[in-house]
Amino acid sequence: MYSRYLAVDSHRMLHRVLSFPIDLASSAKEYSSIGVKLPPLEDLVGVIIAGMGGSFIGGLFLQDALYEKTEKALIPIRETLLPSYINSHYLLIAVSYSGNTEETIRVALEAYRRKIPIVAVASGGLLAKLAEAWKIPFVKVPSGLQPRAAFPYMGAALAAIVEALGLAPGLLENLRSAALSLERASSSVLAASDTLAKWLHDRYNAGDFPIVYSYRPYLSAGYRFKTQLNENAKLHAFHSEIPESNHNEIMGWEGPFRFSTVLVRAREEPAYIRYRIEFLKELFAEKGIKYTEVRAQGENRMEELLSLFYTFDVASVLLALLRGIDPAPTTTINNLKRYLEERINISLDIERITSQTGSRGIRQDGNQG
Ligand code: F6R
Repeated sequence: MYSRYLAVDSHRMLHRVLSFPIDLASSAKEYSSIGVKLPPLEDLVGVIIAGMGGSFIGGLFLQDALYEKTEKALIPIRETLLPSYINSHYLLIAVSYSGNTEETIRVALEAYRRKIPIVAVASGGLLAKLAEAWKIPFVKVPSGLQPRAAFPYMGAALAAIVEALGLAPGLLENLRSAALSLERASSSVLAASDTLAKWLHDRYNAGDFPIVYSYRPYLSAGYRFKTQLNENAKLHAFHSEIPESNHNEIMGWEGPFRFSTVLVRAREEPAYIRYRIEFLKELFAEKGIKYTEVRAQGENRMEELLSLFYTFDVASVLLALLRGIDPAPTTTINNLKRYLEERINISLDIERITSQTGSRGIRQDGNQG
């Protein structure tokens, strides 16, 4: 039924999101021989994974996957400022698909100034040039994709770095085998995407916007859905964390609202989460709030997370197509980036920092100077 909408899908986003399991399985294999030089784990207190938007989600996903399983901190950040406690006992992984995202470049610059070990992950851009000038490890991901659609590559690259550090033995193989299981289960996952996209389309036609509820260790999946609905379906959508939202956002249901909700459900649902969800469902029923539940598929956390990402990525593109919207372009984001580029000359900061630290500078046109 979507075939009639495919003419609007200028960059074949549907095809791209449908290939998620295969792309992930093959990139997990490819990055297993990553070969970057990393500091010894015993010298580190933790790892910071800095990125924005589609380049942030890989860090959040890994944090969920490894939440209570690593002996050192694994902290995803989406910031321009680097907290003062981050020092040379941390590793900073700077992730920017384009390599040109100002926030991530600024965090990398500050880390460089503080002599923090850095690994860069990008398809090119300024970050690649800085990595060359600074002689820091650089992991290249394939170019030509929408950053958010490059999750199978950036996620695998991050997993490879984290495993190479010694923080999560077997992580890449775990990722690869979960991606292969997902591929085998894809028809039932895609059926869930289809149902979800149609449900959201009906809710949108009724004037409601979605709030997606999720909890640890599935926060990243709920957040991913919110951002994919924003960027692919071009709609307002919000993510709400359980239990935190039980202490504030829940009061909003006492006032007027134009929202429907999506509840992420999964295997790791202790009673303190399950009862919170049950309470919400009762509240929703009482108030006439439309909700749907999306259940993760899979035998373990990694499989479940991937099944949720897959369901949500595909549903967001299907929803765009149902609306007759081209899922790929992110015009308003690009306009903002252009606006900022015209007003903020990051190359001056790069010159200042690199000259303070005695390295060769690099101009924004990418030429080392
Ligand atoms: C666009 C997208 C955005 C970008 C973000 C940061 O597809 O996903 O959220 O990821 O604007 O840009 P990059 O990823 O190039 O650092």
